[in-house]
Amino acid sequence: MDVPAKGNILGRFVSARYILAVLGSIGMAIVYGLKVNLSVALVGMLNHTAIKMNEQKSDHGSHNVTVRAEVECEPPTSSGHAKEADGPFLWSSEIQGIILSCYFWGYFVSQIPGARISELFSAKWVMFFSVSINVVCTLFTPVMAKAHYVAVIIMRIGEGIGGGVTFPAMHVLLSKWAPPAERSVMAALVYAGTSLGTVISMLMAGVLTANLGWESVFYVMGGLSCLWCVLWVWLVQDSPQQQPLISKEERELIVTSLGGKADDHEHKKLPVPWKAVLTSGPFLAILVAHACSNWGWYMLLIELPFYMKQVLKFNMSENAVATALPFLSLWFFSLALSKSLDWLRGKSYITTTTARKVGTLFASAVPAVCLLGLCYVGCNRGLAVALTALGVTAIGGMFCGFLSNHIDIAPNFAGTLMAMTNTVATIPGIVVPIFVGVLTHGNQTISAWRVIFFVTIGLYVIEIVVYTIFGSGEQQPWNNVPQNDGENHEEKPLKNETDKNDQVAV
Ligand SMILES: *[C@@H]1O[C@H](CO)[C@@H](O)[C@H](O)[C@H]1NC(C)=O
Repeated sequence: MDVPAKGNILGRFVSARYILAVLGSIGMAIVYGLKVNLSVALVGMLNHTAIKMNEQKSDHGSHNVTVRAEVECEPPTSSGHAKEADGPFLWSSEIQGIILSCYFWGYFVSQIPGARISELFSAKWVMFFSVSINVVCTLFTPVMAKAHYVAVIIMRIGEGIGGGVTFPAMHVLLSKWAPPAERSVMAALVYAGTSLGTVISMLMAGVLTANLGWESVFYVMGGLSCLWCVLWVWLVQDSPQQQPLISKEERELIVTSLGGKADDHEHKKLPVPWKAVLTSGPFLAILVAHACSNWGWYMLLIELPFYMKQVLKFNMSENAVATALPFLSLWFFSLALSKSLDWLRGKSYITTTTARKVGTLFASAVPAVCLLGLCYVGCNRGLAVALTALGVTAIGGMFCGFLSNHIDIAPNFAGTLMAMTNTVATIPGIVVPIFVGVLTHGNQTISAWRVIFFVTIGLYVIEIVVYTIFGSGEQQPWNNVPQNDGENHEEKPLKNETDKNDQVAV
């Protein structure tokens, strides 16, 4: 074996691709953490007394039309919770709604441009931009909030723009760094960071708000995240060929497993074959799975706690364990499942296609069954919480299911494909709250919610059927767009067999 080059000490001891995956995971955690911290901090920011007084004044008692036709759950006997302390801001519930939802506006528009910039120029710097803009907007939030709520809205749109490019940028990096045999694990590691970030942020924001005041949430979390930016610029590069902190063996292992040459530094700039993409069965299967799955995700995470509170009279968000635990178990489950699937694939027991379909099946069938159960557990709060937790946990299967599938079918366009499916999958985030609002307006009953649950189950069934029939783990022909400068990537054959055996041993 060759002695690693000078200045390559790091590469000798740790694998560069797992440094990328762990830092990518922390980056995803930061972006998602800085996204959810506002909803926790908001509790300490608002003057609840004054807002309640204002809203009662403008209501004129027109709100007493709540129909309670059937099953109603009794409130639990001990519902005593500490009164929320008042903060300085007098934002009405409409303004609160806009402040919390405007993140989507930025998220929606930045994905496809972010993906193309990642593919054509640098995914490393797009990811850096994404986290930096989130850090800057977070650090400015307290000052902006004191100026005007519109300034907070602008900060949130900025954070959304940053948040939108994370998935495409990380997909581009994974397509260049993850050997196919480790793709599930690396993708799960990176993307499960979102749920770890959510949980850490919610707990941390709660503690900070209670002890150091709401401003500390933004200063402490924003400040800590700056560390990541330094590490990312220092330790991560766009491709193994550009990374000096890597051993020669690892570089060859990654590059040859992806069918390239270790000394090939050139950057291919391919145009997206839009027509082939939009008519590709495997791509459309990912699109459908992503959109249906996100509908279920928003349902379980945003609407179910509301159902618990309104119908079962159980306030889940006041219970830190009930909120945090499912995210943690999701994280463990997604890593365990992806590791198992990669192992089975490595042993050639299953194909990539099967692995993707199994991951997707876990992430759709289990939540569907849990929702079906929720329709019939009635007022049993303990069982309802357990079913929710089980459903959320199983959703973790998506990271090694359809969510890493873009890289299989077209590694050259993984970022753009991810941006396309994730943009469409953002629509449920806007539609779900409206849909639930319309169906339950003045009618917070179990039967109204059953309709909502059955629609969600129906979408899960569509996901299962479409993805199982049309999904594929094979690279599609349109990934390699014919170029007029010839087939120069095929002029040398791949490394010989002895080399390949070496790689397996590494
Ligand atoms: C909240 O509003 C009430 C009524 O307007 C006021 O008396 C109180 O001082 C306010 N609290 C804070 C913390 O600003």
